[in-house]
Amino acid sequence: MAIVVHGPGEASRGFASSLARSLGLELVAAESKTFPDGEAYVRIPRDRVEEALVVHTMARPQDRSIMELLMLVDAARGLGARRIVALAPYTAYARQDTRFLPGEPVSISLVLKSIYAAGASVYATIEIHKEHSLRHFPGRAISIRPFTYMAREAGIGPGTLFLAPDLGALPRAQELAGELGGDYDYLVKRRDRVTGEISVVPKDIDASGRVVVVVDDIISTGGTAARATRSLLDAGARRVLVMAAHLLDIEGNVERLLDAGVEEIIVANTLPGRSHPRVRIVDVAPLAGGVLAREGIITRTDT
Ligand code: R5P
Repeated sequence: MAIVVHGPGEASRGFASSLARSLGLELVAAESKTFPDGEAYVRIPRDRVEEALVVHTMARPQDRSIMELLMLVDAARGLGARRIVALAPYTAYARQDTRFLPGEPVSISLVLKSIYAAGASVYATIEIHKEHSLRHFPGRAISIRPFTYMAREAGIGPGTLFLAPDLGALPRAQELAGELGGDYDYLVKRRDRVTGEISVVPKDIDASGRVVVVVDDIISTGGTAARATRSLLDAGARRVLVMAAHLLDIEGNVERLLDAGVEEIIVANTLPGRSHPRVRIVDVAPLAGGVLAREGIITRTDT
C-alpha cells in the first residue's frame, strides 16, 4: 500500500495532507533539519515502504527544495519502495527550458533527470511552464492542468473573456473558454533576453464592459499580468481578475497587480500561501488526487 510522504514547509504539508485525504492514503511527515554548515537533512520515519508518493514543492530557496526532494526519493528507495512517484506541485527551473543564448544550460532537463536518477519512476506536477519539458524525464511524467477546476471553485461563470498575456498561455485561455463557455484572446509579449524588460505589442481587444480573467502559469514579478490588465482596462474592461497556477514569493508582485487594477488574484496552493484579502488560494490537491487515480498512477483506497 502506498503512503504519501511530504517534505518540510507549509506548502508541501498542506498539499500532501489534502492529497492523502482525497486518495485515502496514510500521510507521513518527513523529519528535517539543517546541519550547522547549512546542509539539509531529511528522514522518512518508517522501517519499510512499499510504494511512496513523495510530495515536495520547489519553493524558494529552490535549489534546497530540489535537493530535499531528491533526498526524500532516495530515502524512500532505501526503505525498499518498489515504486516511487515524485510530485512537486511547483516545478522550478521550468522556464529555463531552452538555450536562449549560447553557453546556457537547459536547467529543467537537469532537474527532471536528477529526480529520475534518485529513484522516482513517475513525476507529477501542476501546470509546468511548457509541457514539452516533461520529455526530459526518462520515466512517466504528467502535468496536471488546474485552470478549469480553479475557475469553477472561484465561481467564474460563462460569458467571461479569458485573456492569455502571451502566446505561450493561449492554450490555457482557449481551454477555459471552451470548458466554461466564454471567449478568449491573447496578447503578444516581448521580453529582452538580457535585461528581462517586457513590452506588449499593441492590439485591439474587444473587452468593453466585459469581465476578463488574465490566465497564466506563473506570477513572478507580476509584470506580465499587470501590463495585460492595463491594456484591458484601457480597452474598457469592467473587471479584471488574474488566475495563475503558481504565485511566486517575490516581494511586491501582489501589490503590482492590485495597483494595475486587478480585482482578485486566483492561484493554486502549489507554493507557500500569500495571505492577502484579494488573493484567493484554491486547493487543487483533490483534483491532482483524482487525476493520479484515473491515470492509474496511484490506487485510491476506499475510506
Ligand atoms: C512566461 O512565459 C511565463 O509564462 C509567465 O508569463 C512569466 O513567468 C510571468 O513573469 P512575471 O510575473 O515576472 O511577468
